Amino acid sequence: MNIIMLGAPGAGKGTISTRLNESFNLPHISTGDIFRENIKNETELGKLAKSYIDSGKLVPDEVTTNLILNRIEKDDCKNGYILDGFPRNLVQAEGLEKSLLNNSKKIDYVIYVFADENKIVDRLTGRRVCEKCGTPYHIRTLKSKVEGICDLCGGKLIQRKDDTEEVIRDRLKVYNEQTKPLIDYYRKKGILREVDGFDTVENVFNNVIKVLGLK
Ligand code: AP5
Ligand code: MG
Repeated sequence: MNIIMLGAPGAGKGTISTRLNESFNLPHISTGDIFRENIKNETELGKLAKSYIDSGKLVPDEVTTNLILNRIEKDDCKNGYILDGFPRNLVQAEGLEKSLLNNSKKIDYVIYVFADENKIVDRLTGRRVCEKCGTPYHIRTLKSKVEGICDLCGGKLIQRKDDTEEVIRDRLKVYNEQTKPLIDYYRKKGILREVDGFDTVENVFNNVIKVLGLK
């Protein structure tokens, strides 16, 4: 099953994708995580992406789309994948669709995780992520078992550079202007499924697997 996770910064796309990956073994492909990994390793892609990410702007479409189109060609994606944070505007969505069509493939479902914007800043300023595997935690609502250490891989938990109030507001602006139109784009195709991102993680996850027909 090929799935897209769509939603505002902090809606819970990464959290739910991690759970789907654990339960159904679908590769979790997060453009944000791939960019951050490249920034950490100081690759050419990382150098290019850094200024965009730090200021909450989108990395150029061509770079991002090619990155994903190559990634989903890999062997581990044969039985499906979860795209988390891609596409993020109409140019990327059309680029993906065109390439899938050329290969007689398609996206099965787009999960729109909706969230109240007023609650997002609080959520994101309290987020901590694993430096090694990217798993997200929260200092109040989703603590790791041992403070500062990832439950899954033992990596160190850090705060993302773009999780300051100022950059969160910029990311929300970009989301509203560029990403929101994708809700209607996929609704018209009949593959959009909507889930409330501000329920408990357990409930959000259960609602997602219900709308995916996996429960
Ligand atoms: P990206 O990494 O994708 O960031 P984002 O879209 O802003 O989304 P977040 O990762 O902030 O939120 P999330 O929905 O994954 O929430 P999470 O599950 O962590 O992108 C970063 C940057 O990369 C972009 O700004 C851009 O520059 C670039 N980029 C990425 N994709 C791109 C693209 N396609 N094109 C161009 N540029 C691109 O949850 C948030 C917090 O809430 C966590 O602390 C979590 O523990 C907690 N939480 C989650 N769910 C619950 C719950 N149900 N109850 C309680 N707490 C919860
Ligand atoms: Mg994320």
